Amino acid sequence: MSNAYKIAVIPGDGTGPEVIREGLKVLDAASEKFGFKYETKTFDFSGARYLKTGKLVDDSDVNELKKYAAIYLGAVGDPNVKPGIIETGVLLKLRFALDQYINLCPVKLYSSDYCPLKEKLPEDIDFVVVRENSEGLYKGMGEFKDKGTKDEVAIQISYNTRKGVERCLRYAFEFTRKRNRKKKLTLCGKTNVLTYAWDLWQRTFNEIAKDYPDVTTDYAHVDATTMWFVKNPEWFDVIVTDNMFGDIITDLGAMIQGGMGIAAGGNINPQGVSMFEPIGGSAPKYTGQSIINPLAAICAGSMMLDTLGEPKAAKAIEDAVIKIVRTKLKSLAAGKMGYSTEQVGNLVVENL
Ligand code: IPM
Ligand code: MN
Repeated sequence: MSNAYKIAVIPGDGTGPEVIREGLKVLDAASEKFGFKYETKTFDFSGARYLKTGKLVDDSDVNELKKYAAIYLGAVGDPNVKPGIIETGVLLKLRFALDQYINLCPVKLYSSDYCPLKEKLPEDIDFVVVRENSEGLYKGMGEFKDKGTKDEVAIQISYNTRKGVERCLRYAFEFTRKRNRKKKLTLCGKTNVLTYAWDLWQRTFNEIAKDYPDVTTDYAHVDATTMWFVKNPEWFDVIVTDNMFGDIITDLGAMIQGGMGIAAGGNINPQGVSMFEPIGGSAPKYTGQSIINPLAAICAGSMMLDTLGEPKAAKAIEDAVIKIVRTKLKSLAAGKMGYSTEQVGNLVVENL
């Protein structure tokens, strides 16, 4: 199996294992149909493991994961662990240590039945957010002064390097060109208030734009961007933004494409190991009931195959998802699909 893709699987917590199981089922069917080989190894990084052993992700884990072609992640997070520990110790640790400096979130409406916006059609909602995934406010820089006193000051720094901003913007320009739709790239920022960080972003954007005369450039403040997502999502093709703004606008993006049940994302290191995940989290309240929608995980699997170099299989999975979303499912929400988690996975396989 030397030509097999080595995939590291992290099912994680809550509904993560349930959705990953369906994702792997679809991957298996796609490999037979499209004739590619893969092998998986499961890693138990999770909130549950942390509660049992105190272990998060350490440098030796990272070195092990570097041997893989991709990582397929369900969700990590356990309500019994204080917020911040699993997020920084597992998810952000992997993103940073593997230098997955892009977070790619396609926002695509598969059926207007599931869009909360009135009168929007699938052709109106079809854009991609390129989120910087290694810097900004996520860098974890800052300090307390006089903690616990009336004079306390808490400082959280947005850290933006020219190199970090530039590699993200170049990726976004290349991506826009390759996507070849409207060929329009919108920089989403806050140049009117965050006058250091966004000055750097805007200057770098303008400079790089000169290398891409075929790409139309645009700028929108982040607050206005959220307004356009609701009012005129059809204006967007590719949006590039920093880590914090990207985190916020991609949840709104997920909602206008039909909700967390369908939204997938990729943490990309273009030269290294990328990690694909449904963006909805571990959804503890739905765990173990087979009611969670596995389509986001299945779509993340499709993104993974595209990145690995299997675009035909990736497209076939997406087409099967579109088909069942349009003709079978009653809803994309957990418990309302008209099918169990497992049955939705089976439907995708049957329509491949
Ligand atoms: C996401 C998530 C993470 C983030 C959390 C879980 C740390 O919301 O992938 O968007 O903020 O990046
Ligand atoms: Mn988020």
